[in-house]
Amino acid sequence: MAEPLVVALLGFGNVGSSVWQLIEERSRRLGWAAGRPITVRRALVRDPGKPRPVTPPPGFLTTDLDEVLSDPAVEAVVELMGGLEPADTYVRRALSAGKSVVTANKELISRDGPELLRLAREHGAQLRFEASVGAGIPIIRPIEEMLVANRITRVTGILNGTTNYIVSRMASAGATFREALAEAQELGYAEPDPSDDVEGRDTARKLAILASYAFGSWVSPDSVYTEGITALDPVDLGYAAQLGYAVRLVGTAIHREAGIEARVHPALVPQDHPLASVRGPANAIFVEGDPVGELMFYGLGAGGYATASAILGDLVQVARGSRPWRPEPRSGAEAAPVLPADAIHSAYYLRLEVADSPGTLAALAGAMARHGISLRQVLQMRAQEGRAEVVFVTHPAGEAEMRQARKEIEALPSVHRVASLLRYHDGTHGNPPRRSTGPSGTSA
Ligand SMILES: NC(=O)c1ccc[n+]([C@@H]2O[C@H](COP(=O)([O-])OP(=O)(O)OC[C@H]3O[C@@H](n4cnc5c(N)ncnc54)[C@H](OP(=O)(O)O)[C@@H]3O)[C@@H](O)[C@H]2O)c1
Repeated sequence: MAEPLVVALLGFGNVGSSVWQLIEERSRRLGWAAGRPITVRRALVRDPGKPRPVTPPPGFLTTDLDEVLSDPAVEAVVELMGGLEPADTYVRRALSAGKSVVTANKELISRDGPELLRLAREHGAQLRFEASVGAGIPIIRPIEEMLVANRITRVTGILNGTTNYIVSRMASAGATFREALAEAQELGYAEPDPSDDVEGRDTARKLAILASYAFGSWVSPDSVYTEGITALDPVDLGYAAQLGYAVRLVGTAIHREAGIEARVHPALVPQDHPLASVRGPANAIFVEGDPVGELMFYGLGAGGYATASAILGDLVQVARGSRPWRPEPRSGAEAAPVLPADAIHSAYYLRLEVADSPGTLAALAGAMARHGISLRQVLQMRAQEGRAEVVFVTHPAGEAEMRQARKEIEALPSVHRVASLLRYHDGTHGNPPRRSTGPSGTSA
């Protein structure tokens, strides 16, 4: 029988304990797929005495990293501690010792991916991180391998279940952001400190990893324009619904001629677009490629077992010694430029509180027109005591022009405030693939 792949876990929390349980439960299936048994030797934790929902064998949990890394039998390390430190140091030590690493840590991979991949290469080890985006949804390997013949032009999607749950609840129950967040925390969908999620940083990290693999060029999460959901007002979700749209926190990356556009912000999505029906903690990712057209990947974006499913897919690859099909994304001076936020082009939704007096709408439309922005719809939603609430929907316009128009509008004496500004989702759902004919010109 072939030598087993001996694995050590760094972390035995929600995902770590699920990985251990799944390896125990599915050992025959995994051994068959990997061509050799997969066994877990050890798990590193902070506190081995802590009560846990699963009970590992005596002596299995340790607080001593050296015990894990100096064991020559350990061939692969699965990092499931989360955060940057000490995860970063431990992953570097494991790779430098020639041990392959599988991780779900999007914070670490989005920041240090190129360096860690180089370290892995130098020491003949592998670094795999399918679970870092969309938990159990297979997305990195499909992009890297099965879509290798495609020129991918766009990746977009809902990449964070916590914010999606909150926004869905705000729309369905008319709840405020604070109320929906408290509910998500009670149900275990949001962390006690939810700032990375609700401020959009978690989505930006996942989008950066996705875009890097889709476009073959590393994108730093710091260069992703990022706006979270904390300022969302249920009033706008209600008006959006009246206009035929749902609001979602969407990550979008587009490969343009001049460089990569990457952004995360709440977006108005047409109610008949599949993203609008992604509710609660689910994730959905669209990939648009030439010649494949548009693909949708959908599933649970969190959860111990869902994430463990992706971790085990990676571990089997490590056990088989399989190498990724495509070269690593370009990095450093060879990477494609990421475009500044001013390069964003989008249709906008603006809600304004204005004086309910003649000439106000004409002044507003004039300010927009002076910056080349044309209006698609103007709706007066409410009026009382001399004040009116107006919603403007624009045709696609540049971000820089919109910023200037907004400044001019805010200076108008008839304008009390711009209460909200939201962008429309920039998707191409429903468009046919660019090539609808086969090589001989017949219908494919
Ligand atoms: N949970 C999900 O649904 C999900 C989905 C996708 C990706 N991920 C990613 O998966 C990773 C793990 O998430 P999780 O939910 O499993 O986290 P978790 O439940 O908080 O578990 C973290 C584990 O790491 C251990 N740990 C933390 N700091 C340590 C340190 N300094 N030294 C030794 N051990 C340490 C903890 O030890 P103790 O047990 O002693 O506290 C615990 O066992 C994160 O990167 C997360 O972003 C999670």
